[in-house]
Amino acid sequence: MASFQTLPGFREFYPDALARRNHLFRLWRQTAHTFGFAEYDAPVLEPLELYKTKSGDEIEGQLFSFTDKGGREVALRPEMTPTVCRLVGERANALKRPIKWFSIAEFYRYERMQKGRGRCFFQFNADIFGEPGIEAETELIALLAQNLCAFGLTEQDFYIRLSDRNLWFFFLEALGFDDARSRSLLTAVDRFEKLGDDAFKPDAEQYGALEPSKQAQILAFLGIRSLSALEAQVSSLGGDKLRARLDDWRRLLRNLEAMGLSRLVEVDLGVVRGLAYYTGFVFEAFDRKGELRALAGGGRYDNLVGKLGYAELPAVGFAIGDMTFALLLEQRGLMPNLVQAPDVYVVIGGPAERLAAFGDIQALRAAGYRVDYPMKELAFGKQFKAAAESGAKLALIYGTDELAKGVVKVRDLGERSEREVPAAQLLAEVRAFFTGGA
Ligand code: HAM
Repeated sequence: MASFQTLPGFREFYPDALARRNHLFRLWRQTAHTFGFAEYDAPVLEPLELYKTKSGDEIEGQLFSFTDKGGREVALRPEMTPTVCRLVGERANALKRPIKWFSIAEFYRYERMQKGRGRCFFQFNADIFGEPGIEAETELIALLAQNLCAFGLTEQDFYIRLSDRNLWFFFLEALGFDDARSRSLLTAVDRFEKLGDDAFKPDAEQYGALEPSKQAQILAFLGIRSLSALEAQVSSLGGDKLRARLDDWRRLLRNLEAMGLSRLVEVDLGVVRGLAYYTGFVFEAFDRKGELRALAGGGRYDNLVGKLGYAELPAVGFAIGDMTFALLLEQRGLMPNLVQAPDVYVVIGGPAERLAAFGDIQALRAAGYRVDYPMKELAFGKQFKAAAESGAKLALIYGTDELAKGVVKVRDLGERSEREVPAAQLLAEVRAFFTGGA
């Protein structure tokens, strides 16, 4: 065996795997266009500084980073969000608002490998800049849902958990915690699902143990799973900020209901998102069975453009990863069989027939048909076998007799019927066959 192997966590895409990947990208792209999002792209390699403190400790610890030959500290991008903020920040005045952009790109994180997690993966990112209200969340949650439903997934397969970091901060403030402690507690909340009570240990080590009554209140808040439970909690705490925020919640949920998305979206304050920059509503998509890691995640991040040194600009966005998503489609039998069959296979006699066939092959390909033929001279029997195996619907036969008569024999490989067509009418004949007019 040769000694060069793919690096751990990196993937090769043989043609069948690439066909599946392209299938995801094609539908994601199509869906984003139907929502009026414009596509952009950006560099894979970025200044390391772009991610330091901006993305949060977890991502910072997972960077593929190095010093380039010019002495610059650089990193392979682990996510798109800081980059897209820079792109928008640079041209903020010239761009028509709201700015609705999407991208499909590859990212790199040095993570522990597990099912659905690799060290390189693709994400579909969609972000809206310049819209401070819940209208942006409405649009993005709708796009996220449609990006999954477009593949045939339904509410039985996935759901979107909706939460709110603003609400968490207001709540923790009402409990008497300052900003630094609140952030530390939110980290604990983020890890609670995975670690249970242990998630609070680092906070206790830094700030001292939580009063049991406060921990109980935090756990009760984390357990909220409906608007009515949220309303009950908030009314017991009071406070204008909390009340106003509850109004945003009602409007957002009403919008989503009007879009027919209530069955997909669930209130779930257990989600707070690990990334450092989120400021408001946050959401994550999961498979219903709870077998896979997150399919997608996102939220509002109103301060990041400003933190990068540009004029402040409100923003909301999300990303879907390709790995868990493909696993889910496969589990549900929703990954189509993507064999790349030619439309037409050309069976050729000797050298003179080959030259005659070449002209037609070029013309058919130029007209958009997928045409294949044997590179080398082969016995007719072998060529017919190859034609059948290729999955083509039509075979075109160029033999000595056909050439002498100025015709091409057109064989319908499904019906197993054939007829002779004057060479000059071949393109029209093929076209008629594929548009159902033959
Ligand atoms: P994230 O939650 O880090 O958010 O990633 C979003 C999705 O990317 C995850 O739900 C998962 O499907 C996929 N993903 C992340 N890491 C890996 C990995 N190591 N292997 C495979 N898939 C992975 C963000 O990246 C934010 N920048 C999203 C965003 C856009 N927020 C606002 N705009």
